[in-house]
Amino acid sequence: MIVKDIDSRLIITKFAMHGYNIHPSAVELLKGMKEDIDGIIAEICRTANGCFIITPEEIKPIISKFKVKTVSPVQSIQPKSEAEMAKEEIKKVKSAEVREVSVLKDITGKSSCRGTVEDFVVYFNSRLEKISRILKPRLKAIPISAIGKVRTQDIDVIGIVNEVREVNQNTAIFELEDRTGIVSVVATGKIKEIAMELMGDEVIGVSGTIRGGRSIMAERIVFPDIPNGSKTIKKDFAIAFISDAHFGSNTFLEKEWEMFLKWLNGEIGEGSEKVKYLVVAGDVVDGVGVYPGQEHELTIFDIYEQYEEAASQLDRVPDHIKIILAPGNHDAVRQAEPQPCLPKEFSDLFGKNVTHVGNPSLLDLDGLKLLIYHGRSLDDLMAKIPRLNYERPHEALYELLKRRHLAPMYGQRSPIAPEREDYLVIDEVPDILHTGHVHTYGVGFYRGVFCINSSTWQSQTEFQKKVNLNPMPGKVAVYQPGGNVMRLNFYNN
Ligand SMILES: [Fe+2]
Repeated sequence: MIVKDIDSRLIITKFAMHGYNIHPSAVELLKGMKEDIDGIIAEICRTANGCFIITPEEIKPIISKFKVKTVSPVQSIQPKSEAEMAKEEIKKVKSAEVREVSVLKDITGKSSCRGTVEDFVVYFNSRLEKISRILKPRLKAIPISAIGKVRTQDIDVIGIVNEVREVNQNTAIFELEDRTGIVSVVATGKIKEIAMELMGDEVIGVSGTIRGGRSIMAERIVFPDIPNGSKTIKKDFAIAFISDAHFGSNTFLEKEWEMFLKWLNGEIGEGSEKVKYLVVAGDVVDGVGVYPGQEHELTIFDIYEQYEEAASQLDRVPDHIKIILAPGNHDAVRQAEPQPCLPKEFSDLFGKNVTHVGNPSLLDLDGLKLLIYHGRSLDDLMAKIPRLNYERPHEALYELLKRRHLAPMYGQRSPIAPEREDYLVIDEVPDILHTGHVHTYGVGFYRGVFCINSSTWQSQTEFQKKVNLNPMPGKVAVYQPGGNVMRLNFYNN
């Protein structure tokens, strides 16, 4: 097929059909080509090898292979309209009013992993060491290799849980591993019930008696749980929590979002004047090529345009509210956690009152510790622990705090990048834990920590229909530390 003067939108759409995003500079290279553009795009996607954004580097070798001539695009510079100039002026004012949010922990700019086997060894050692440090004062743990060499029969050990097997109605066996060895742990009765809820790869302590020289009969399973009892922090401001806006999706709930903006701007309802922070826990856009057939469920096919839309919508949030934006699995960053913040090419689109952070990240907001995590591991927790469910997602957050880890289970639905340090360990107890991802809403307190799973701005998607997942869109928790939790509902169902 000979195509003359195809435009950017068509190129972007064609790449989206293959499940790829394309950089604007790469689009420019393809514009105006007089060759078989469909064939070239198919070849580019075939050789792109799953890269997140196709850049000129991926395209240039294919272009030379096809020996096509490219026509340089004519750059047209339009004079700025009055509206655009006014918008820039507003952004300047916003940047002058910026208040800093201090980031206590975030992978952004610190990633060193290459994904080698050695990296995974270092990563899991970091997990073991960090959580062992929490457990050690609570146990008299010996190295696993010392079992059988100590005189006493009663011992404590700390290790990473390997596979848990149910032997019969009353008994389960699991393996525990530390840097010195592996031991089998037998759990019966009530302990068996606890063992059946163990996530693979979490770090726990076990107290028990040595059985037959090489296994332990468990008497107690010790979680690295956060301390009981809470400090009461009182603040005169409130924080609004949202996530999963999915700008660009054809199921985006425009009317409900408009109502929320009206509320934030004090045009409807009450209480917005207290809001000092708006926290967004990922999936601000729907992305491109996130799942097969997604192109049929998009209204904006270009990832850049999706972020432009997200930025212009967040620009409508009043200037005195500081926005904190973390990515999720639909965002344009690496899929494996911990995810760094949005790259500059996207973050630059947002106003200066938006602070971009990674997933997860621990922040200090005026003396309040906020831990943000998109929540991908919640799917793993719901699948593993039958008493948890999507109608009460905040209860899964209690389990994360109890395990002191945001994605305890490796190799399931939460891809993990093996960094030298395990950023997913909850080593510092936050005042607030905020997640999203599962599109349902729930809030509660666990040992003094405010846990919130914020909802979504997307109605039920085709995929959710197939898996029978009922989202709870348009709900917003507004929390004033030491005061009330307000639940706003902008969606009538
Ligand atoms: Fe998500």
